[in-house]
Amino acid sequence: MKVLGIETSCDECSAAIVEDGRRVLSNVVATQIPFHAPFNGVVPEIASRKHTEWIYAVAKEALDNAGIAVRDVDAVAVTGRPGLLGSLIVGLSFAKAFAWARGIPLIAVDHMKAHLYASRLSRGEEADPVPYPFLGLLVSGGHTIICRADDFDDITVLGTTIDDAVGEAFDKVAKHHGFGYPGGVAIDGMAKLGDDGAFRFPMPRLQEKGLRHNRDHRCDVSYSGLKNAAINQLGQFRAKKEGEPRPEDIAASFQKTAIDILLRALFNAAEDSGLSTVVAGGGVAANSRLRESLAARQNLQSVFPPPEFCGDNGAMIAGIGYQYLKRNDRSPLSVTASARVDGFKKKVL
Ligand code: KG4
Ligand code: ZN
Repeated sequence: MKVLGIETSCDECSAAIVEDGRRVLSNVVATQIPFHAPFNGVVPEIASRKHTEWIYAVAKEALDNAGIAVRDVDAVAVTGRPGLLGSLIVGLSFAKAFAWARGIPLIAVDHMKAHLYASRLSRGEEADPVPYPFLGLLVSGGHTIICRADDFDDITVLGTTIDDAVGEAFDKVAKHHGFGYPGGVAIDGMAKLGDDGAFRFPMPRLQEKGLRHNRDHRCDVSYSGLKNAAINQLGQFRAKKEGEPRPEDIAASFQKTAIDILLRALFNAAEDSGLSTVVAGGGVAANSRLRESLAARQNLQSVFPPPEFCGDNGAMIAGIGYQYLKRNDRSPLSVTASARVDGFKKKVL
């Protein structure tokens, strides 16, 4: 079964064709980065306008690259939530029109669950998919979620951020210091040339023994303190006083602490859940320090999507869409987009 996947939740306009949920025949990602870069962040109005201008051509290119015609598409999957509302509506409207015109099934899917599905995609030889259950690490510009995954859509949130998302912290720090856009990519590159011990930024104390509710926060993270330290309190956390601090040192020190925060919560989740396989997804899953740190960790197996499927892409949407279709789930043409979802908050007992 060939599914067309449409993704327009933020600043990537993407369409893909995926066969039987895993084999990627094409994945076209038209990035709007140059249009948002002057503002150092995504401008929602520009994003939805660009999606409107591009979606037809992007979908056409996805069909052409897969070497198939419109009539060969068996179903359409599309991101329905969460994301920028105006941007989501463009993709959803396109997908609805395509499905209606062809008389084929439509399925609106969750963007974050699709990120978690991304590691099951493949361009060539398909390895056996990681068996459920496993630990999910969902790290993007808007979310930081550590969860237990029992199936492609059965997710229990074990930990989340109590304030900013990890990608957001990368973006804000990079924006403040003028490191480049998108911030995560810029900091990852600069950090390779910097000294990660130049600044000793503090870890959030929310998991410490003796603090109220520390048990509840074992798998949670916080980034507002680190963001503030790396933007407003640099002098206070400088470990090496000699010479002028280099931008690369700020990037390396910030990235070290940002990833340490994530790993501490993740390792607690592994210990508490007894799960020893971690599947990562989302833009920050492309981070080289995160990948290297997890690869070096003994007794924890980590699985990352290929970099092509870490950021926003239509292939992960088509892939997870197929799994819903296989069990006969469909969305009505009246389905609406929603900017947020409830399910990504931890249930505090
Ligand atoms: O999943 P994604 O493409 O879009 C959202 O769903 O938010 O994630 C975008 C986020 C941005 O915050 C970006 O700075 C971050 O992923 N990012 C990275 C890296 N590449 C992208 N963060 C750290 N290191 C990277 N290499
Ligand atoms: Zn995303």
